[in-house]
Amino acid sequence: MVSSEASPWAKTGGLADVVEALPKALVAAGHDVCVVIPRYMHGFGAPAERIVDWMPISLGGTVYDTAIYRLVQDGVTIFYVDHPGIYGREGLYGDRFGDFGDNHIRFAVLCKAALEISRELFPTDVYHCHDWQAGLLPVYLRAFDQTDPRFMAARTVMTIHNMGYQGIFPREKMGEVSLPEWLFRPDLIEFWGSFSFLKAGLVYADAITTVSRRYAQEIQTPEHGFGMDGLLRARTASLTGIVNGVDYTRWNPEADKALPEHFSANALEGKLACKRELLREMGLPDRALGRPLLGIVSRFAYQKGFDLIANIAHTLFAEDDVFLVVLGNGEQKYEDYFRHLRDSFPDKVALRVGYDDPLAHRIEAGSDIFLMPSRYEPCGLNQIYSLRYGTVPVVRATGGLDDTIDAETGFKFTDYNGKALLDTIRLACRAWEDKEAWTRMMRRGMAKDFSWDASAAEYSRLYRNLHPFAG
Ligand code: ADP
Ligand code: GLC
Repeated sequence: MVSSEASPWAKTGGLADVVEALPKALVAAGHDVCVVIPRYMHGFGAPAERIVDWMPISLGGTVYDTAIYRLVQDGVTIFYVDHPGIYGREGLYGDRFGDFGDNHIRFAVLCKAALEISRELFPTDVYHCHDWQAGLLPVYLRAFDQTDPRFMAARTVMTIHNMGYQGIFPREKMGEVSLPEWLFRPDLIEFWGSFSFLKAGLVYADAITTVSRRYAQEIQTPEHGFGMDGLLRARTASLTGIVNGVDYTRWNPEADKALPEHFSANALEGKLACKRELLREMGLPDRALGRPLLGIVSRFAYQKGFDLIANIAHTLFAEDDVFLVVLGNGEQKYEDYFRHLRDSFPDKVALRVGYDDPLAHRIEAGSDIFLMPSRYEPCGLNQIYSLRYGTVPVVRATGGLDDTIDAETGFKFTDYNGKALLDTIRLACRAWEDKEAWTRMMRRGMAKDFSWDASAAEYSRLYRNLHPFAG
């Protein structure tokens, strides 16, 4: 697996959770799996061993002197590519001034390093590339290493976790990442006058997957294809949707270390204690214990539908006796908006701006209703975590949200407008008043099983179908 994120040392979102959990499930199914990720500043704390002091990666006439660290966990080998000059930074992709200017180099080095690792340390049948950051690997494999016998039978899978991030860079930078000019064609890696890492992966990979069935259909339409729907339609025979699973060793209210009390479907008292503690932690009044508490944990990004919240929140909190806790970070305008909302309703809305994993768990546990009004959502993990924590999701019927939530376990709306969201929140809050019916709904959600086994088996089948010599 080649990825820019893997929990717990490199995470901004769900990609990290997937790249931590899927390899474990594949190992349990009998595969040998390694994960190649950059060694960011946060990764300096990982208990990994330096096993290669010097692995030169040549790219665009420059040699990047990398070193390799290795950590074996739950049977999965994680190789950290170390190059303090390009990776040893606090942010994964950028800082407060925006994206790093050398991201094309940082992730091209990652792809080349992964090939080098498979040459030297981990003979590989299938390269599973995640998102645009791994998109150049299939190109390098085909365009440069074709004659090396070790790579002849290798196959590639490109998984799209999000069409909204395509790794687009100016044509002039192609040389810096060793891409020859002849690749600059609309049917290859050119994209509206620039070139795209994701497109490269989508054109050159042997198989393409994305993280839910519904999203696999959606990205073949102009509305959700972000300009690449034509290419995806052309490759439809190689495109499948495999829904993400959940690592229930990390997300389990019966044993979650971040919670003040534990609970289960048969012993729900602990959930009320979690709500009480959450209200205290976030500075909301005790009386909120007897009212619906909405929760949000999210990257603050265009995709997540916060403009709908902005549309209706003032009406909701002015007219209804409901409460909200928000944890998130990302784009400044959403941070500003939530601060404004909190300042307008300080007794009803609590906000924590930042990244805080234990608090994310406590919000999942302590809320009654989890809000995900996403504009689009390839899979979404938080709504699935919510189910297990007895927190009823209110979601927009798109992508993985539509696939994982039904009328038995949550509330969905379809039209992307504020009224539809407001009506659905109010419907959920009215339903909350009927304690018995609500508890039944919570229990139905808690009983759902989204563990990785089934999805890992689907990936397994895909790898085996691709690879000529695999079992
Ligand atoms: P996405 O990958 O688009 O961000 P997902 O729902 O797939 O959305 O996954 C989000 C993951 O990131 C979840 O594990 C969620 O708990 C976590 N997360 C997002 N924002 C934060 C934050 N501010 N603090 C802690 N965890 C967060
Ligand atoms: C992306 C998507 C999210 C998905 C995650 C893991 O970040 O936005 O919907 O769950 O990747 O696949």
